[in-house]
Amino acid sequence: MSSSSHTSPVTQEAVLHALSTVQEPELHNDLVSLNMIRNLVIAGGSAGAVVSFTIMLTTPACPLRGLIEREAIEAVTRLVPGVAGVNIRFDAEVRSDHRIIGKLNIPVKNIIAVASGKGGVGKSTISTNLAVSLALEGATVGVLDADIYGPNIPMMFGLSGKPRVEEGKMVPFTAYGVEVISMGFLMPEGEAVVWRGPMLHKAIQQLFTDVRWGELDYLIVDLPPGTGDAQLSLAQSVPLTGGVIVTMPQQVSISDARRGATAFKRLEVPILGVVENMAGEIFGTGGGWEAAELIGCELLGSIPLEPKVRMGGDSGQPIVIAAPESEAAIAMRKLARKIAARVSVVALAPEPTVRIE
Ligand SMILES: Nc1ncnc2c1ncn2[C@@H]1O[C@H](COP(=O)(O)OP(=O)(O)OP(=O)(O)O)[C@@H](O)[C@H]1O
Ligand SMILES: [Mg+2]
Repeated sequence: MSSSSHTSPVTQEAVLHALSTVQEPELHNDLVSLNMIRNLVIAGGSAGAVVSFTIMLTTPACPLRGLIEREAIEAVTRLVPGVAGVNIRFDAEVRSDHRIIGKLNIPVKNIIAVASGKGGVGKSTISTNLAVSLALEGATVGVLDADIYGPNIPMMFGLSGKPRVEEGKMVPFTAYGVEVISMGFLMPEGEAVVWRGPMLHKAIQQLFTDVRWGELDYLIVDLPPGTGDAQLSLAQSVPLTGGVIVTMPQQVSISDARRGATAFKRLEVPILGVVENMAGEIFGTGGGWEAAELIGCELLGSIPLEPKVRMGGDSGQPIVIAAPESEAAIAMRKLARKIAARVSVVALAPEPTVRIE
């Protein structure tokens, strides 16, 4: 270290040097290299200098804020002589996935696809609560329901009817602070639609390009079950930041999850991780972990089976709103923070960081 004495003034360089020893635990790089330190001000005083700055997180849903704050204060007071106090403010600026920039004509920073090998495992429930949770943290969020077989995102958000069209573009509904568009809005009511490849491709593309999406930090795409046409169409139409795979705890579901992962891999979509849903006495626990092991990715969270989750879905009141203190809601909020952190990693990485063999 330098030989600065108590009388030498505290400099910006010294503070930044101290902060460059603090790692962002998810991003595996230091706060200065990641350009997270802003508005650095050093105020002199007879008792010593007071150092103030803003830490610009890469997501408002950062799960590690407390840890980063403690380590930053510790580093500055220990490594910079003459500091009497450290004031830290937090702010957040979601970084854009570089693969999206310039490739899409919509102001969306990150696109997250929620998939599963099998139907009925809770994709739409997870997509809905993930979106609302991220909005509750202060992020701007949209949900795109790409389920062609049974779009039920509108029901889960308590929405019905058709969206307005302005200047040739559909205007998303807003519920719980989340912008929502569903494949259901494009389907003629009461008519069975047989989607053929090119038509499906076009319809999915329209949900991105013919919708007046706001400036979104995260766009969550709820996929239909399976690993077929829709996934393929989606990955060919838009650059995906990453995919989340939902599975149930039991064995049969695990092999389905693996198939879902293989589809993402083939499409070169980074896998953010696996979510185990409906864990508990009936279906057991641990299958999510096993699936994550098999796929070679992270277990992002485990959501318990709780009747309130289904009731919330049926009544258009997501569990994180209807019963925020419930175990399932707390698990959903935690899951959302975890996914936001993983998205930050993928968005900043030059190459997909998670690959499976
Ligand atoms: N953790 C949970 N606890 C209790 N019920 C749940 C839970 N997660 C989902 N459900 C319920 O299970 C059913 C299926 O969930 P959901 O519709 O989200 O699955 P999905 O994977 O989107 O299905 P599909 O493949 O048909 O699109 C719904 O009735 C939902 O309310
Ligand atoms: Mg669904």
